Amino acid sequence: MHSATASAPVLTAAFPIPAGVHAETVVSVRHYTDWLFSFRITRPQSFRFRSGEFVMLGLPNAEKPIFRAYSIASPSWDEELEFFSIKVPDGPLTSQLQKIVPGDTVLMRQKSTGTLVLDALTPGKRVFMISTGTGIAPFASLVRDPETYEKFDQVILTHTCRDAAELTYGAELYAQAVDDPLIGEFAAGRLTLYSSTTRETTPRMGRITHLIGSGKFYADLGIAPLDPRTDRVMICGSMAMLKDVRSLVEGLGFQEGSNSKPADFVVERAFVD
Ligand code: A2P
Repeated sequence: MHSATASAPVLTAAFPIPAGVHAETVVSVRHYTDWLFSFRITRPQSFRFRSGEFVMLGLPNAEKPIFRAYSIASPSWDEELEFFSIKVPDGPLTSQLQKIVPGDTVLMRQKSTGTLVLDALTPGKRVFMISTGTGIAPFASLVRDPETYEKFDQVILTHTCRDAAELTYGAELYAQAVDDPLIGEFAAGRLTLYSSTTRETTPRMGRITHLIGSGKFYADLGIAPLDPRTDRVMICGSMAMLKDVRSLVEGLGFQEGSNSKPADFVVERAFVD
C-alpha cells in the first residue's frame, strides 16, 4: 500500500478486485471526533438495497482484503452511499479506513442484508428508533426514506453517546432531514430527535434505558408511554445496550419481528468495533 498523506488519494486499487465486489470511489469524508467519521462513496448503478440494511466494506490493500459489516446511512433513493464509522487505532479495517480521502477506492460486496427494515415490522402509529454511538447509522437511512412516513405517523429517533461531540452526526442529520426539499415534507413535525450523553455534562443526560424506565423520556417529549398496540421499535447499538433495551420492550409485551415474520420490534448490533 502507498504511504498516507492528508491530501492525495492513498488507497487506490493496487491488488486485483475480488469477484463479487464493487470498487467504488470515495466522494467525501467528515471527521467528527478522534473516534468518529463519516464518508460517502459512489453507488454502483446496479446496487439496490432497503433502507436500514448493511453491506460488507473493505479496502483494496491486500490480496484477500478484510471486510466488515457497515450499515448504509444514506436512504435507498440517494445516488451516493453514506457510512458512519468508529476509528479504532488497531482495528483491522478502521485503522486504515479512517485514512481515506476523496478519490480513494473502497470495496463493497454486492449484496446487502439486515433486520432493521420496515418489512420486518407490522403496521403501527409510532416507530421508535433507539440507538447508541454508530448505531444511529441505519436510522440515518430510515429517517430519510419517505416509506418510513408512509408506514408511521410519528418517527422518534433516540441517540445516546458518551460525549456531546459524538451527537453531532445525529443533530446534523435531523436538521438536514426536516429542511430537505424532498424529505422535509414528510419529516417536519413528525420526526423527533431525542439525544442524551452519559459522561459529558449536557442539558440531557442518561442512558436511554434509564430515561425510558424513569418516565423522563415520555415527560420530556410529552408523549404516551410505549405500547405494543400502537408502537414499533427498532434498536441498534452495543451488545449490552441491545440486551437491556430488548428486555425493556419485551417486558412491555413487544414481540420480535423478522423479514419472514414481521412483528413489533427488531434488533441489530452496531457492527464495527
Ligand atoms: P455509558 O457511558 O453509561 O456506558 P459505548 O461508547 O460504550 O458503545 O456506549 C455508547 C453509549 O451507550 C454510551 O452513552 C453508553 O453509556 C451507552 N450504553 C452502554 N451500555 C448501555 C446499556 N446496557 N444500556 C443503555 N445504554 C448503554
